[in-house]
Amino acid sequence: MELKTRIDSAIQQNIARARVAPAPDQLARALDYACFPGGARVRPTILMSVALACGDDRPAVADAAAAALEIIHCASLVHDDLPCFDNADIRRGKPSVHRAFSEPLAVLTGDSLIILAFDILTRAATHEPQRALGLLSLLAQQTGMPNGICAGQGWESEQSIDLSAYHRSKTGALFVAATQMGAVAAGHDAEPWYELGARIGEAYQVADDLRDALYDEKTLGKPAGQDDLHGRPSAVEQFGIKGAIQRLNDILSGAIASIPSCPGEAILAQLVRKQAEALTPVTPAVAKA
Ligand code: IPE
Ligand code: IPE
Ligand code: MG
Ligand code: MG
Repeated sequence: MELKTRIDSAIQQNIARARVAPAPDQLARALDYACFPGGARVRPTILMSVALACGDDRPAVADAAAAALEIIHCASLVHDDLPCFDNADIRRGKPSVHRAFSEPLAVLTGDSLIILAFDILTRAATHEPQRALGLLSLLAQQTGMPNGICAGQGWESEQSIDLSAYHRSKTGALFVAATQMGAVAAGHDAEPWYELGARIGEAYQVADDLRDALYDEKTLGKPAGQDDLHGRPSAVEQFGIKGAIQRLNDILSGAIASIPSCPGEAILAQLVRKQAEALTPVTPAVAKA
C-alpha cells in the first residue's frame, strides 16, 4: 500500500470513531474538515519511513503513531488560525475551521483532536503496551510545555523571542516526534533518532519562512507574507533569500549524515533527499537571488 493511502486510512478510521452518534453534528463534521483533505502529511510520512527503515514489525502500532501525530498537527493548525493567534481565513486552500464553522467550534475541534490523538495511542497499548507508553510520552513532550508546540506558540506572547527555542518548539518538536515515534513504533530506541528529527525540523522551518516570503496565497493555500506582517523573526529576515537557501541545504546535508544505522538506512537517506528537493523553493525571485 502506498504510504499516503496507509496514513490517510489510519487517520480516517480514528476520526470516524470520534464521530459516531450521539456526537453533535457540526463538531463531528469539523473534525473531518480539519483533517481532510490533508496537506503534505510530511510528519507521518517521516514517521512511517523511519518505522519501515527499522523493520515495521508491528504495522498497527506504526499506523496508530502516524495517525496520532498528524491529528495533533491538524489540531495545532486549527488553533493557530484562530483570530486570537494568526487570524487566518484560509488553510489548505479552503476556509479555516473557524471561518467554515465558528470560533467556539474551532476551539473544540482542536481540543477534541488533541484528546483523540492520545486516545489512539492508549488503544495501541492492546498490541504493544511498552511501545504505546513510549509513544504517549514522546507525543506529550513534543506537544506541551516546556518544549512542545504549546511552548512554541507561547513564545509569540513574549516581549523578546529566543529564536532558536521558538523554532525548535513551534516546528522542530513534531519532526523530532516523527523520527523518534517511528523508531519506537518498530521497537527501536528513540534517542539515536533525535538529531535527524531536529535537523529536518530546522530545515522545514527555513523552507516555510522562504515560502512565506516568496509565494502567494494561492500557491500556498494559506495567507502569505505573515512573518513580515506579524513582525516575526524568520530565516529570510536573518539571512536574506540566498542565505536562507544555503542554510536549508547545509542543514539537510547534516540531516542525511545523522541517520542512525538501521536496515533501511539507504532508503531513508533517499527520502530525505527527495524531501529536500520538494522543500527548496523554485521561483524567478530565487533564480535572480
Ligand atoms: C505548517 O505545516 C505549519 C508549520 C509548522 C510550518 P505544514 O506545512 O506541514 O502544513 P500541511 O499539513 O502540509 O498543510
Ligand atoms: C504554525 O506556525 C505552527 C503551529 C501551529 C504550531 P505558523 O503560524 O508559522 O504556520 P502557518 O504559516 O500558519 O502554517
Ligand atoms: Mg502561527
Ligand atoms: Mg499561522
